[in-house]
Amino acid sequence: MPHRPRPQLDFGERTKPLLDFVTKTIAREDGVLRDIRESTPSQGLPPISVGPDEGRLLHFLASACGAKKIVEVGTLAGYSACWLARALPEGGMLHTIEYDPKHAKVAKENIELAGLTPKVIVHTGAGMDVLPRLSASGPFDLAFIDADKTGYEDYVLWAANNVRSGGFVVCDNAYLFGNLHRDDLPPDHDDAPKVAPMRAALKLLADETVFSSCAMIPTGEGMAVAVRR
Ligand SMILES: C[S@@+](CC[C@H](N)C(=O)[O-])C[C@H]1O[C@@H](n2cnc3c(N)ncnc32)[C@H](O)[C@@H]1O
Repeated sequence: MPHRPRPQLDFGERTKPLLDFVTKTIAREDGVLRDIRESTPSQGLPPISVGPDEGRLLHFLASACGAKKIVEVGTLAGYSACWLARALPEGGMLHTIEYDPKHAKVAKENIELAGLTPKVIVHTGAGMDVLPRLSASGPFDLAFIDADKTGYEDYVLWAANNVRSGGFVVCDNAYLFGNLHRDDLPPDHDDAPKVAPMRAALKLLADETVFSSCAMIPTGEGMAVAVRR
């Protein structure tokens, strides 16, 4: 996956201190989460995990739907996995899927450090190879999609069939790095092949015959959320 800085919405200088304050109060990380996030680059992994505010949002969403079973596509170093797993009750389980074995190894170590190993299974493999095998462990209360953007349509289709009624499907990077709306991307642009699958994924999330409600939460990256009908 290409390594790029995460573009953020421009909230302007005036509101930045306000947002920093909110992050410190509402989305605060403890030392374990901060260490996992901050040590990701030194472990040779790209610094592309969700931020603390998005981690808190994932924790909130998992809590809001009373999640006991969660599936995540795209583990990286396990930062978002730890936020999600912390929202699980005793006996709850997060299945998280990671394509890169090196990332999966670091994630397992971090999840162990966070004391969450009993609640998390890290599956090493490609999302669409692993997900069909996980259907037997469903239905799931929440699916969080944060892997290869060209796969989003397939992931959302799988989630629509494997998340229970009232459960949530959540997609990160739904603004597609600011390029979601662009019809003029040069064919050799890195995001050009991702536009159609991301739009198709969002179209499905907005299909009211499948999902009762869908919203774009305006994080810097865009976090699309839909409730399974
Ligand atoms: C943005 S990172 C995930 C960040 C993580 N959710 C977090 O916030 O801590 C995307 C991850 O998806 C993995 N990935 C890419 N293609 C994948 C695929 N087809 N199946 C599963 N994982 C994939 C990458 O190796 C990378 O570790």
